[in-house]
Amino acid sequence: MDSDVLTRADQAPAAPAPSTADPLWWRSAVIYQVYVRSFADGNGDGTGDLAGVRARLGYLKDLGVDAIWFNPWYPSPLADGGYDVQDYRDIDPRFGTLAEAEALIAEALELGIRTIIDVVPNHISDQHPWFQEALAAGPGSPARERFWFHPGKGENGDEIPTHWVSSFQGETWTRTTNPDGTPGEWYLHMFTPEQPDLNWNHPDVRREHEDILRFWFDRGVAGVRIDSAALLIKDADLPEVGEKPDHPTEDRDELHDVYRSWRAIADSYPGTRVLVGEIWVPDIDRFTAYLRPDEMHTAFNFDFLARPWGAASFRESISATLAAHAPVGAPSTWVLSNHDVTRPVTRYGREDTAFAFLRKRFGVPTDPQLGLHRARAAALLVAALPGSLYIYQGDELGLPEVEDLPLDLIEDPMHFRSGGTDPGRDGCRVPLPWAGSSAPFGFGRDGSAPWLPQPAGWSGLTVEAQAADPDSTLSLYREALRLRRALPALGDGPLEWWDDAAPAASDVLAFRRGDDFACVVNTGDDPAALPAGADLLLSSSPLEHGALAGNATAWLRIGAATDPHPTAHTTEAPAPRG
Ligand code: GLC
Repeated sequence: MDSDVLTRADQAPAAPAPSTADPLWWRSAVIYQVYVRSFADGNGDGTGDLAGVRARLGYLKDLGVDAIWFNPWYPSPLADGGYDVQDYRDIDPRFGTLAEAEALIAEALELGIRTIIDVVPNHISDQHPWFQEALAAGPGSPARERFWFHPGKGENGDEIPTHWVSSFQGETWTRTTNPDGTPGEWYLHMFTPEQPDLNWNHPDVRREHEDILRFWFDRGVAGVRIDSAALLIKDADLPEVGEKPDHPTEDRDELHDVYRSWRAIADSYPGTRVLVGEIWVPDIDRFTAYLRPDEMHTAFNFDFLARPWGAASFRESISATLAAHAPVGAPSTWVLSNHDVTRPVTRYGREDTAFAFLRKRFGVPTDPQLGLHRARAAALLVAALPGSLYIYQGDELGLPEVEDLPLDLIEDPMHFRSGGTDPGRDGCRVPLPWAGSSAPFGFGRDGSAPWLPQPAGWSGLTVEAQAADPDSTLSLYREALRLRRALPALGDGPLEWWDDAAPAASDVLAFRRGDDFACVVNTGDDPAALPAGADLLLSSSPLEHGALAGNATAWLRIGAATDPHPTAHTTEAPAPRG
């Protein structure tokens, strides 16, 4: 064969593709979420960047992750932390270049780490050329049909077209001004006015996103996290909520066709490229309908994330999740936090341990020690459950929510749209502490101020400090992920509740994976006896006289000699068995 045919000079070198060796990698993957702006700052300007991530890939390899999910890294005015995308095919210059992203994807793959990127299909930045074109073109123009421009109600068109409420609170329509200065049409934005919603009934919108998927799959990304995935389609009649049986803006049946076409694109690439949905849909059967075999691969399990601390609520969520996923054949995901929610160390240290948007307030009393114990216990619990696991950067360091950011530095629109009563989400987005005893703790160059200030008390929480301490939260995560990789029963596969080891209606949760692995979680405050004759593999807190401490989890190796019935709750030595 003529070798010239194979090496045509006008073809770019092929991007490295994820390995095809394990087509089911996503069913049990450990996926680490990188919020680029706050991960590591390579150039010392106070903002995290791709150079910083490239320099820390070894850290992620040592932690034991299979993939990285990057929050949006595209050029953006950052009206909503990058979820206002100006150009879906480039990298924000503050983070680096497209060439650096390509190098990062390739370098990570060499370490066995896949890359998942964030796509934001529901809305774009108001600075995106499409929206600018639509504004300039005026009412009735084809450029406006890619969005939801609509005349207002009332004689002068000055009444809002619908009273749909934004997830960020407040109204979802903003009135435009015509090129001649007169008041014009209104446009829809389910989030901020800087994030106009796209019209998914328009063929340009569908084609454009299919092309964006190909653009990134061609560059070797192994999957996409789909932002606000249940919001894309709206009822074009613009009914108010409750006027018709189905919701006008959420979880509409027509969405499934969109994801079927995306799945066909993903499946046309080698190495199993995955679709991961951000789906906040309370009805679990409607939620798992997105995970049918020709739609998304997985979706974030927010039911578990939002649950209050406690054996009963955890068990109920785990059982319902597994039962609803089984019929569609999809694995569940387990997520303790992300860039939108309160850090677990803080959330679990409060009286109200459930998570809900719009309920965040300043000054909620918190017990950080209790929160840390519970967050460590929860980390071992979720790492032992069937399915894939997400770790939000900094949770492996046990970072708390930063609740005393100077008000003038807060950028999150959720704070402003609440009228300042909700602290917003910046408290979980504070730059990571890597090393040293004072800010910026190795996040960037000494003397450079990170875009959000780090608490002085974080010197004990740096990667450097924790790596040297076998009892640190980082060491716990490393050991858990090492065991998870080594033990075939963990990751994807069945789970069996082990009721003999967890007295009914107690604070203890126990389950088995495979023949010889068990996980026991004590959500109460008092120690709980463990099954006799089991080997302790790992625990989130030291055992107390052989019993599992309160607010702790243990991983056990069990065998024929294990007696599941925990010795009675007593501090006396157990009677010899014979
Ligand atoms: C998702 C993102 C969040 C963003 C919103 C709007 O919920 O996780 O950070 O603000 O979508 O894009």
